[in-house]
Amino acid sequence: MNVYDSARMADVLAPLGYAPAASPEGADLVILNTCHIREKAAEKVYSELGRIDRLKRARRAEGAGMLLAVAGCVAQAEGEEMLRRAPQVDLVFGPQSYHRLPDLIARAEAGGAGIVDTDFPVESKFDHLPEEAADPGPAAFLSVQEGCDKFCSFCVVPYTRGAEYSRPAADILAEAARLVAAGALEITLLGQNVNAYHAAGPDGEGWRLARLIRRLAEIEGLERIRYTTSHPLDMDEALIEAHRDEPKLMPYLHLPVQSGSDRILAAMNRRHRADDYRRIVERLRAARPDMALSSDFIVGFPGESDADFAETLRLATDVGYAQAYSFKYSPRPGTPAAALEGQVPEAVKAERLAMLQSLLNAQQEAFNRASVGRNLSVLLERRGRKAGQLVGRSPYMQAVHVAAPDEFLGSIADLTVIEAHPNSLGAAPLPAGPTGSWPETRAWA
Ligand code: 5AD
Ligand code: SF4
Repeated sequence: MNVYDSARMADVLAPLGYAPAASPEGADLVILNTCHIREKAAEKVYSELGRIDRLKRARRAEGAGMLLAVAGCVAQAEGEEMLRRAPQVDLVFGPQSYHRLPDLIARAEAGGAGIVDTDFPVESKFDHLPEEAADPGPAAFLSVQEGCDKFCSFCVVPYTRGAEYSRPAADILAEAARLVAAGALEITLLGQNVNAYHAAGPDGEGWRLARLIRRLAEIEGLERIRYTTSHPLDMDEALIEAHRDEPKLMPYLHLPVQSGSDRILAAMNRRHRADDYRRIVERLRAARPDMALSSDFIVGFPGESDADFAETLRLATDVGYAQAYSFKYSPRPGTPAAALEGQVPEAVKAERLAMLQSLLNAQQEAFNRASVGRNLSVLLERRGRKAGQLVGRSPYMQAVHVAAPDEFLGSIADLTVIEAHPNSLGAAPLPAGPTGSWPETRAWA
């Protein structure tokens, strides 16, 4: 979401003459787009601000200026407080203010010190953002939904991103068509709670995510559709059926469960039990047998006992993940869970995290090993670290690297997987040469 938002900010700033710089050294304007989800991410902002302040001073010594702005959810959560802690910051603005950037920057350039804009405006920023200008590349993001009304007891998102909002389907379809015309083969639909998407369709009816995906799949030239992040409660039948019927919808789903213990799920206000989640996974796999799953887990939520944690390990074992993210519970200011008794000691959190991660890593390695010898269609997105190497994603989101000429960049190739690593796959090389000599199996998009 922050990658997408940063690209939108670049679009807003382009008419003012700003263009993205390769590094903050010597830049006229530095924007830190920040994340408040866990304490570690939020604290990183302040150390980064110290580093950039040194660049700002160096630039001032040369007689030039540098505006320093903080955007995103840390800015939203801290507002004025941020200026007290980091007075070198010129501008603090939240995720709902990006369309007002030209005005905010004009005020800062005119010498206005310490400007803060963290209101949730009544108008939607999407109605005021310009059309995307930056090259989307072969795999593009498209924000369809923002904010969250779920109020999981550990989570700051409903406070920093605000109430749930879905963009009208017509706007999304138009943006998708532009992305595809600009060369995107894959679109990932974004939202904090993307499968809660519900908005007016061009026909005036209420559209949910499945309907939107089916219509997007009709766009010629769009080959792959993904969406993230989803909540189990919003995994409706129509969406599961879309996974069954729509080949462009990739067989990979990030579906956070957070915990396998019913007691902890209730305390987290997740509003489902562990078995409800297991049933959703069963239905998904009945609809699409090769469905690969990913998740988020939190260990050491207040009150989590060894028995609760054992339930989390059991759920992960039952589901079998292709990959997953796991975190130590991090108390966030203003959230109900931060005030709960029974906060779990750091050492216990660390031990549980290590146990869960070793299970999840083993599952991921097994999933990758099972790909060896298979043919997978890979969207080759960028050059790899080694010369002559390209990197892309399999339908199951695995990173795949292959020795291949640059002509394959931005195409979908059928590749034979020859090796598995913990975090990636290696595929048999694609031969260089005139187009005619490329293998029959290659599938150009
Ligand atoms: N502590 C730890 N992890 C958290 N997440 C959200 N809030 C917290 C928190 N307070 C994790 C959840 C969520 C992911 C984006 O971040 O697992 O799904
Ligand atoms: Fe946060 Fe996701 Fe829960 Fe919303 S559904 S409160 S974004 S964890």
